[in-house]
Amino acid sequence: MSMEAGFELGFASLSNEVTDRSLAVEGSLPDWLDGALVRNGPATFEAGGERVEHWFDGLAMLHRFAFDGREDAVRYTNRSLRSETYRRAMETGEISGQFATGGGYLRRIRQLLFGDPTDNCNVHVARVDGSLVAMTEVPRYVACDPETLESRGEFAFADALTGHVNCAHVLPDPHRGETIGLLTTFGRPSEYMLYRLPDGSRSRERIGSVTIEDPAYLHSFALTERFVVLTEHPFVTTPASFLLPGRDSFVDHYDWRPERGTRFHVLDRETGERVATAVTDPWFVFHHVNAFEAGAGPNGDGDADELVVDLVAYPNADVVDGLYLTEAADWFESGRDGHLRRFRVPLGGGPVASEPLYDGCELPRVAPGDRTKAYRYVYAQGAATRDGNHVAKVDVTTGESHRWEESGLFVEEPVFVRAPDAERPSDEGVVLVTALNTNERRTDLLVLDGETLDERARAPLPHAVPFGFHGRYLEE
Ligand code: CO
Repeated sequence: MSMEAGFELGFASLSNEVTDRSLAVEGSLPDWLDGALVRNGPATFEAGGERVEHWFDGLAMLHRFAFDGREDAVRYTNRSLRSETYRRAMETGEISGQFATGGGYLRRIRQLLFGDPTDNCNVHVARVDGSLVAMTEVPRYVACDPETLESRGEFAFADALTGHVNCAHVLPDPHRGETIGLLTTFGRPSEYMLYRLPDGSRSRERIGSVTIEDPAYLHSFALTERFVVLTEHPFVTTPASFLLPGRDSFVDHYDWRPERGTRFHVLDRETGERVATAVTDPWFVFHHVNAFEAGAGPNGDGDADELVVDLVAYPNADVVDGLYLTEAADWFESGRDGHLRRFRVPLGGGPVASEPLYDGCELPRVAPGDRTKAYRYVYAQGAATRDGNHVAKVDVTTGESHRWEESGLFVEEPVFVRAPDAERPSDEGVVLVTALNTNERRTDLLVLDGETLDERARAPLPHAVPFGFHGRYLEE
């Protein structure tokens, strides 16, 4: 693969690490910004001369951008996650047990079904009881120092909940002081199990579950004030297939079965009871944006009679194949199939309605305070061309949108931080977004105005960071 063309730099390994480096800022930062943006993503794509096959399989690296109220400085630290998978890769030259990279299926089956799955936690981060915890799609977690990002070994919850597949997108609900999460357990039948984790606790509590014969690959879910929404697209597996030869990796065990349609399962957050299931056309989803309760109830009693669920839908699961590194040249094509859509899920039966909000985007974000509430603004990564991509801002109440873009720049997930004095659903604040700057062959941290998307500040990094996944802004 040529390293000359630009965006391929986003799939090139990064091993350079810096500690608490002061980055020069062009422009100026708001003086109220005093937290830290922590991001996760794959950064090492080779071991022993072999390259991993899928973007999702690169070894994790964490990045931290610390703001301390100064207008002209950001402090930057990055660390490869010292997971067992990382240590083994460095010692043996082999990256094993991953999402889509082949080799040794029997070992992987045992890893998946009998423990010891990969701990290459490269998808997301969460703050649990004072720890920074790196997460991936199997239930193994690595604890990290929230400031230095040094790995502190395996993180263990103080409960007995288990599963085979972990939803790396846990959802903190600041209005309720808890985080909701999801584990899938393979069996006869299989089970999607929801849990709550009270703030300040390491002990998860089971809320309820949905049992299912052929479980789907669930990458995220949605939350309203009273309900959890599990969106079950027809990208499903037969757990017994993990015991049969012939398929080489985790994701090879999943098949697209459009005849099943896509289902919304609605569960009561308090009782765990399933209160509705609605079926609609088949489409695929990685990321939900937000959800909330709407309608005045069939009797006008004020209770919600439908849920509004906003998410990025794909026509099918081809996007998963589009993210193989052998097809990285086509990577930017796959993003065009991601459509921000609004679904209206009736609680009392009836059809699911939907409407388009924005075409060609991924990695959608809302202010954490807007979660579970009627809201207004989404920020997302716009689909790329060979020349770059854009930050998209969408007003979901009007469908209006605008964008920030610059030739040669590929932005990652845009994280909106609302100004401390601003009230929901205001867009007063800033958008923190890293961007691969292919003109300068480095990554820049951009600070955009939340209202206009005008650039307020830019801090060049000392290296190019490969394309990553998710991050959180952690208040100090
Ligand atoms: Co994700």
